[in-house]
Amino acid sequence: MKGIILAGGSGSRLQPLTKVTSKQLLPIYNKPMIFFPLQSLLRAGIKDILIIIAPDHAGDFLKLLGSGHEFGCKFTYEIQDKPEGLAQAFLIGANFIGDDNVTLILGDNIFEDDFSEDIKNFKSGGRVFAKEVKDPERFGVVEFDENNQAISIEEKPAQPKSSYAVTGMYIYDNSVVERARSLQPSARGELEITDLNNLYLHDGQLDVAFVKGRWFDTGTFESLFEAIQVVRQKELALSQENQAVREPLM
Ligand code: DAU
Repeated sequence: MKGIILAGGSGSRLQPLTKVTSKQLLPIYNKPMIFFPLQSLLRAGIKDILIIIAPDHAGDFLKLLGSGHEFGCKFTYEIQDKPEGLAQAFLIGANFIGDDNVTLILGDNIFEDDFSEDIKNFKSGGRVFAKEVKDPERFGVVEFDENNQAISIEEKPAQPKSSYAVTGMYIYDNSVVERARSLQPSARGELEITDLNNLYLHDGQLDVAFVKGRWFDTGTFESLFEAIQVVRQKELALSQENQAVREPLM
């Protein structure tokens, strides 16, 4: 299983924070944002990782992440010239993917869940992860039938058919490259991941699983702030635990 972190885009919703740097390099308490999706892939055992970045701050990503040696993995880098959609990752990454299956994670998504079992047990088709949210209109939204089977996914619908958002973690078999090649740009000029997921869904090949832990798409000031608060609480709790373990020794 190969991994891709999609860390391009313009970060326009976080201006002026993103005027001189990339969204995925912004701090989440004590770490750059991209460390979190990277950690999700590493924890799931994925060690061969393509990082897709925009031209503007490419050097900063290289400086931060390097070859991957420090993280016990191997990084490949590709530039996405323009933010032409999430599904373009599979066209840019076609050579990197080769004959393998691939997991894509968005560079601004932070998950508590451990995806190791999903990756280990993955056989074919596609697997996406839904999470109940208060503001589904910000996301790809899953529609379920009366038997709780997913029947469609809509990208940022004005009238969402459920409160389940598709999160930024996607596992696909190798047919993803061919499927991505068949996509046409949407009305906003992007190759949509939602269109790609619907191709799998209509072929009966999409499995919709659920995210159990907390999940953040840090693309707005509010969600960025919330993610920072949660990570801070977790880090403080961890350092208190470590101190408690150390204390009897002193
Ligand atoms: O976070 C989950 C959501 O991500 C899904 O529910 C939506 O279906 C999906 O379209 C996406 O929505 P966003 O509005 O959050 O996408 P955004 O434009 O913020 O891009 C997500 C990440 O991908 C962000 O880190 C920037 C990067 N990106 C985006 C585009 C459009 C790229 O690297 N290249 C791109 O062309």
